Amino acid sequence: YVLIRFFDSTTKVDDLVQRMEHDKTSASPAKHIVLIAQELDNPFWREMEQGADQAADKLGMKIDYMGPIRIDPSEQMRLLEKSIAAKPDAILVQGIGNPEYDQLIGKAVDQGIPVLTVDADEPGSRRLAYVGTDNRKAGEQLGELVVKNEARNGQIGVIIGSEADNQRLRLEGFRSVISAAPGFQIIDVRSSNISRIGAAEQAEAMLKQHPDISTIVGFSALDAAGIVEGVTAAGQEDVSVYGFDDLEVTRKGISEGDIKASVVQQPGEIGAKAVYLLDQWFKGEKLSTPYFIPTNIMDGEHMQAGGSNR
Ligand code: GAL
Repeated sequence: YVLIRFFDSTTKVDDLVQRMEHDKTSASPAKHIVLIAQELDNPFWREMEQGADQAADKLGMKIDYMGPIRIDPSEQMRLLEKSIAAKPDAILVQGIGNPEYDQLIGKAVDQGIPVLTVDADEPGSRRLAYVGTDNRKAGEQLGELVVKNEARNGQIGVIIGSEADNQRLRLEGFRSVISAAPGFQIIDVRSSNISRIGAAEQAEAMLKQHPDISTIVGFSALDAAGIVEGVTAAGQEDVSVYGFDDLEVTRKGISEGDIKASVVQQPGEIGAKAVYLLDQWFKGEKLSTPYFIPTNIMDGEHMQAGGSNR
């Protein structure tokens, strides 16, 4: 099964070349936009694809969505390289914070293929613009929530999702608020590799090592749900859990009281906005960067606070 899926993702780029060649011979060729996700079937990325698709439909463009089966930055890089060779009209990528990746983005731009970063920026590259959350501010938002709600004890564990720039910035923002709050302290930081099971395992191990932790926060979309499982496995259900995004599992966790609150991004909106910005670029307008899409807080009292299109 894994082999078949792997084959799927690698042949996708070859299909793309064929489809594009076919389109170019038709009367008014549709513009082809490649969207390379961090992980193909991650629900956060699927939501971004949906938003991009809806905008593309309205503007007469086509989205070619692809990504590694499991998080794998080197595969993201390979897909970018192959996509450039297929000569699409534009490429949307997640920043992964890698100098070779910066060069590839530069190579695309040199060949007249505009690149926008979505979800996480690649600041050193020649991408036209970044479209996504103001991640430093989002980290601060989460820090303020924790400080406001957790008056009793300030021992905090953090689960980050990946090495991407958005996680670094969220941690930076979160840290700045926590270190300014008397009595609060971050005592452990681990990575879930954006997987729910990873977050569960890391949260459980963290609590075994530091039983005094009273709050665990997760910085990527599946972390909070995983942390709830880890906290249960460690027999420490009184630990407060906070997270990011409003995937179904997180909404459920909040409504059942297992997750206290979440900083909700708008992946659908990010995908749609990136496509609209490309349309403006194709029409000769200049783009400015960054292009921030706002976040909201969702907690037990504000279940509709998320701006997601569900
Ligand atoms: C989001 C994050 C994305 C991705 C996703 C994974 O919070 O912005 O970069 O990691 O979670 O579930």
